[in-house]
Amino acid sequence: MSNPIEPFGIPSIGTPNTPQATRVMLLGSGELGKEVLIALQRLGVETIAVDRYDGAPGQQVAHHARTIAMSDPAALRALIETEKPTLVVPEIEAIATPVLQELEAEGKVRVVPTARAARLTMDREGIRRLAAETLGLPTSPYRFCDSLEELQAAIDGGIGYPCIVKPVMSSSGKGQSKVDGPHDVARAWDYAMAGGRVSHGRVIVEGFIDFDYEITLLTVRALDGGEVRTQFCAPIGHIQVGGDYVESWQPHAMPAAALGRAQEIARRITDDLGGQGVFGVELFVRGDEVWFSEVSPRPHDTGLVTMVTQWQSEFELHARAILGLPVSTALRSPGASAVVYGGIDAQGIVFDGVAEALAEPGTELRLFGKPESFPKRRMGVALAFDQDVEAARAKAKRVAAKVRPRRA
Ligand SMILES: Nc1ncnc2c1ncn2[C@@H]1O[C@H](COP(=O)(O)OP(=O)(O)OP(=O)(O)O)[C@@H](O)[C@H]1O
Ligand SMILES: [Mg+2]
Repeated sequence: MSNPIEPFGIPSIGTPNTPQATRVMLLGSGELGKEVLIALQRLGVETIAVDRYDGAPGQQVAHHARTIAMSDPAALRALIETEKPTLVVPEIEAIATPVLQELEAEGKVRVVPTARAARLTMDREGIRRLAAETLGLPTSPYRFCDSLEELQAAIDGGIGYPCIVKPVMSSSGKGQSKVDGPHDVARAWDYAMAGGRVSHGRVIVEGFIDFDYEITLLTVRALDGGEVRTQFCAPIGHIQVGGDYVESWQPHAMPAAALGRAQEIARRITDDLGGQGVFGVELFVRGDEVWFSEVSPRPHDTGLVTMVTQWQSEFELHARAILGLPVSTALRSPGASAVVYGGIDAQGIVFDGVAEALAEPGTELRLFGKPESFPKRRMGVALAFDQDVEAARAKAKRVAAKVRPRRA
């Protein structure tokens, strides 16, 4: 069922901190939310940054900071009813999305892109079943399992080896592992149980797709002459290590036939999810074949690169699209991003080498301001633009390598 939500455009933008303010609430205020908040602030929107801990990156740049457990339905409802934002913008998956659906149905708030999209993408099951079973999009073969015995039976019954086991609810590769043979199955199950976000006890096992490369196709649904129209950004190539993105670049060259298929898949899934905003459609490509992997109904981490490659970054596109403003997905320059990890367990770390890192022309850095570092926590991102993607990738990696996090 497609979403019946009406196109939305704000007739005017008020002044922040006055009764006329246009108020937008971000549910999740990490590095992606922070950039959306900055884009909204530039348009004179009053912003409310919500996260589960104090001092989250987005809370540092918003008009208001609120800390609640967003997975707690009562707390989430109370906050939205008190703050009465014009729009609620989910930035993360682990939210009590049924409450968003209730509030949207009660006409109390508009959820971006829709409450149903937030609900369906909250875990891997809703979105995979919609894509593969309802829309018939090509995906890896898959099965959902609730025990080690079911997992083994699913593998033996057709998924085969190699395959990938993932907790139904997790992101950034947490709890995810590749299974090469029977000896890996129990370990993959235990790892998924330990790494899932909510102790669900449910996993998806997917047949391994031996792709040539994977892309994120940023897809924007925005108003154009009173109607919602779909536009695509140039494909973003990326490299994932252990299910977490370490490097991305744009544009990623691909054959016209594969690009056409990718856009068709992205159009079909985003048409169904509906509403307005940016979607990050993750796709695997081999030759002219394209598989749907998953979709974020919001800006995507691999799309951080658009801050140097597009005239309107994915964050500005999101801010504009959700307010009903026109967008342009035009490319400005080839470019790349490389992740800066914390490397250590510590609070309030410092970063050495920043001046040296940025001495190269055509480079930028974002440090997210996260209060606590872990070895594998993404603390910043290096950005670079150049004549071509290869030069930009090399440059972004050089910049990231020169930034050295350390204990204070
Ligand atoms: N079926 C598969 N075949 C081959 N590779 C896969 C498969 N599923 C996942 N991967 C690899 O693992 C990566 C992470 O998988 P996925 O996007 O499902 O996890 P995630 O935890 O949601 O990650 P993120 O939140 O960072 O997008 C993919 O980008 C891809 O590189
Ligand atoms: Mg992914």
